[in-house]
Amino acid sequence: MAKIVAGIAVSHVPAIGVAMDKGMTGTPYWEPLFKGYGPAREWLAKLAPDVAIIVYNDHACAFSLEIIPTFLIGVADKFPIADEGFGPRPVPVVNGHPALAWHLAESLILDEFDMTIANEMPVDHGLTVPLSVTCGKPDAWPFPVIPLCVNVVQYPPPTGARCYKLGMAIRRAVEKFGQDLRVVIYGTGGMSHQLQGERAGLINRRFDTEFLDGLTRDPVALSKISHTEYMREAGSEGVEMVMWHVMRGALGDDVAEVYRHYHVPASNTAAGLMILENRSAA
Ligand code: DHB
Ligand code: FE
Repeated sequence: MAKIVAGIAVSHVPAIGVAMDKGMTGTPYWEPLFKGYGPAREWLAKLAPDVAIIVYNDHACAFSLEIIPTFLIGVADKFPIADEGFGPRPVPVVNGHPALAWHLAESLILDEFDMTIANEMPVDHGLTVPLSVTCGKPDAWPFPVIPLCVNVVQYPPPTGARCYKLGMAIRRAVEKFGQDLRVVIYGTGGMSHQLQGERAGLINRRFDTEFLDGLTRDPVALSKISHTEYMREAGSEGVEMVMWHVMRGALGDDVAEVYRHYHVPASNTAAGLMILENRSAA
């Protein structure tokens, strides 16, 4: 059977991708951030998962105000890199895993999570930056990826609690897949940041630290944080953190934090990275 062996939570700041693409990771501004990514890359290369599910949000690239899927799964065999206004990032195309993706789509929908199904979809920085952060600059990504989008761009986004339950349903689905696959799941976005309005530039280290602590200690309580509290404490874009609950819900009760990196500033955000191993799958 397939199993989810680990979860990775990681911010997706577009400027992090630009720094990598333009060879600026050793500059005084970026060096402390990228130094903290090294151990995560080593850990992931050693784990060598067979497939990754990447929970992320599209930023009005694949779909915009015309269509707003609350939850979406990509079932294609390839996902092109989106052009976000400066041409597509110079990173490899993202290969999918249609067999597991269709299995997930069927299982999730029959388990009462009404997923939108994407047969074709470009992927933006929300997905490619977490891949770059954790895999570096390979000629081809080291594993196929199932993109799973969550709407956090247009009101109303799903609640953290709903996201956590989706994660639990993903775990049930993965464990019903006949093939032996070691699956890793990414929760992306966050941490505290606000890109517009009077509080643009907001960072809340206390909230972020408590959030990271809570992911291991008490994820169910954490998943109940309201949208208003995210807005107040973590800024308008801090609500992206609901996606981390999907990742956490997909891991079992017995989870160990094996790595954490938190750095301010990275563009307008507090950039966080956390690795959780799923001991119940060991
Ligand atoms: C920034 C952060 C984001 O999450 C995003 O999607 C775009 C920009 C930023 O900090 O610049
Ligand atoms: Fe974002």
